[in-house]
Amino acid sequence: MKEQLEAIHSAAKQALDACSDVKTLEQIRVQYLGKKGALTGILKQMGKLSAEERPAMGQLANQVRSDIEQALADKQQKLSERLLKEKLEAETVDITLPGKETKIGSMHPLHIVEQEIREIFLGLGFSVADGPEVEYDYYNFEALNLPPDHPARDTQDTFYITNNILLRTQTSSVQVHVMENQKPPIRIISPGRVYRSDAVDATHSPLFHQVEGLVVDKGITMADLKGTLELLMQRLYGEECKIRLRPHHFPFTEPSAEVDIICFHCHGEGCRLCKGEGYIELLGAGMVHPKILEGCGIDSSVYSGFAFGLGLERIAMRRYNIGDMRLLFENDYRFLEQF
Ligand code: PHE
Repeated sequence: MKEQLEAIHSAAKQALDACSDVKTLEQIRVQYLGKKGALTGILKQMGKLSAEERPAMGQLANQVRSDIEQALADKQQKLSERLLKEKLEAETVDITLPGKETKIGSMHPLHIVEQEIREIFLGLGFSVADGPEVEYDYYNFEALNLPPDHPARDTQDTFYITNNILLRTQTSSVQVHVMENQKPPIRIISPGRVYRSDAVDATHSPLFHQVEGLVVDKGITMADLKGTLELLMQRLYGEECKIRLRPHHFPFTEPSAEVDIICFHCHGEGCRLCKGEGYIELLGAGMVHPKILEGCGIDSSVYSGFAFGLGLERIAMRRYNIGDMRLLFENDYRFLEQF
């Protein structure tokens, strides 16, 4: 038996020396140490030995087993080290190559001014209301006192989905949604996209952005409107910014005004930029027409309100001295990187 054990020992060692891959290694393990392996076979015959022989043989068998186990483990270690080395060599990275450049974007000027306006109004206790861009004629026109055939519809020609569904021309439509769903006091702004069927040029685009504002409460007057807009413009353009209200007409406000800011180029003197006016037109505003309040179920003898609508493009263009609206929509990096 001793010879057998020694034979197994040296055969196993030889096999392990020659072995160069994990698969063969496993085969060797099974072949010598497995349940049906050579060593196990020998151990099964231990019973046949005499009581004197048994301890010495047992010891030798154990020795052989642990020796083979150790050799297996060593080989395993060597093989996996080699495998890792090969893998690393195969996958070497040339760290001298320039990496892929990730472009870090910047905020779009329209987004910047919108965020600023939101912040200003949130600070004044307003909340932000949202409304659909695809809108019923009713909300965009009719509920705002612009019945079919009203001449003012001409100035806001839009894109129609069906006869009575269209792309909204103004965020004023959100006023109506809010007043239908919420009782005064109401203080909201509503920023969003609006559409008009205008040809593209330096100051027109069929898609642009407005921010609507609406306040309805007891005792709201034109002074509240003026104070709010003055504060807004001073926050946007600096403390010295002055505004001017000019009489105007909107079907959904009475009285209505166009709001100008003082020309920051000539400070009111009149120059080429403001076309000699001294002021630059910026937005429309007015006291909510009682008819609109009543149409939304709000008692106009108890409540009054003001509304305004400003164009974000115009605000951003003034703010950053951008001379052509198209730049805002062309997605040219050279332009956008500046903000
Ligand atoms: N909706 C108007 C426009 O787009 C602006 C406006 C809003 C005027 C609210 C008055 C009150 O021209």
